[in-house]
Amino acid sequence: MNRAAVSGSRGTGIGRTNPVDRAVPFADRFSMGNVTTLELKGKIPTGTAFEGVFLLKGVSRRIAKNGRPFLAIEVGDRYGSFSCNIFEDSDAYGLLQGVPVGAVLSLAGVAEQFNDRLSPRIQAIRRIGPAEARSQGLEGILYGGPKESTDLLRKELESYVARIGHEKLKKTVEEALKEVGEIFWTNTAAVNMHHAYRFGLLEHSVHVARAGISLLPHYPFVDPDLAIAGMLLHDVGKAWEYRGEGAYERTRAGLLQGHVVLGYRIVRKAALTANLEDDLLLQLEHIILCHQGMPEYGAAVLPSSPEGVFVALVDNLDAKMAMVEKALDTTPADWEFSEKIMGLEGARVFTQGR
Ligand SMILES: [Fe+2]
Ligand SMILES: [Fe+2]
Repeated sequence: MNRAAVSGSRGTGIGRTNPVDRAVPFADRFSMGNVTTLELKGKIPTGTAFEGVFLLKGVSRRIAKNGRPFLAIEVGDRYGSFSCNIFEDSDAYGLLQGVPVGAVLSLAGVAEQFNDRLSPRIQAIRRIGPAEARSQGLEGILYGGPKESTDLLRKELESYVARIGHEKLKKTVEEALKEVGEIFWTNTAAVNMHHAYRFGLLEHSVHVARAGISLLPHYPFVDPDLAIAGMLLHDVGKAWEYRGEGAYERTRAGLLQGHVVLGYRIVRKAALTANLEDDLLLQLEHIILCHQGMPEYGAAVLPSSPEGVFVALVDNLDAKMAMVEKALDTTPADWEFSEKIMGLEGARVFTQGR
């Protein structure tokens, strides 16, 4: 956790370029510079002015009760995110028009709470180009990512493909990965639930297969080739479900069909190219269609085969443990429990001393 950044100077100069507040001395307005989301949530008392650099993670247009339009924006960094409202009469409102999700923003504001959650009042915004963000050494703070080497993760996934003994099943996996192309190896696995960063889909696919392969000997009635193919491909549709660079949103196909149906389409086409037997095709498709576990989580059918139940549970295990790990990595050190985690049914994770 980067605590040193609180007192350091990243020199965004945002206050000096804001005509609205020019009369107020810089030092009086920005008493805390270079904050991260972690520090905003953990250290800064309500009412404290701050300055920090964050990713734009989401924007939605809303209308207030008095009829005035405003933007509800979500901004954050690798430690998490927070939302704030930007009203029509502010300079920031105009500046945010047409700014895409993933843009890097320098923000100046005042820490405030709404419904027990951080919801700062934003006073000034400045957009920062990717080159400037890089030159200021911000990438490590803004973007999360796998802890392991992504080259090694890719090699590991390829080694799992190679161990599928059934030739047509192996060819099906190879054809599916070929169909999706490079985006499979670099895309996120989510907007913000788990593995929500560049290379997250690769990391999650490898971790599911790694955990699953270690468990397979305990369940000799689970077909290992079918289970491995299913674990590697269960989320392949996410390659087409999300887009972005650092911060992510759903694609049109992702919104209209979702990764379960997209994955089913990718796998079916690959299996037909590989001449996979009808019976195995039906079973592999079942794994894709059921892996979300329950209809309310996006499953088209309930897991109903040995491999379907197995892949759905291992997927769930890895997704939830990734949420626990993220809570451990991003909860302020002096908190006893993390914030509520929606993917854990709203539970708070015990993080103190970890
Ligand atoms: Fe999934
Ligand atoms: Fe998954």
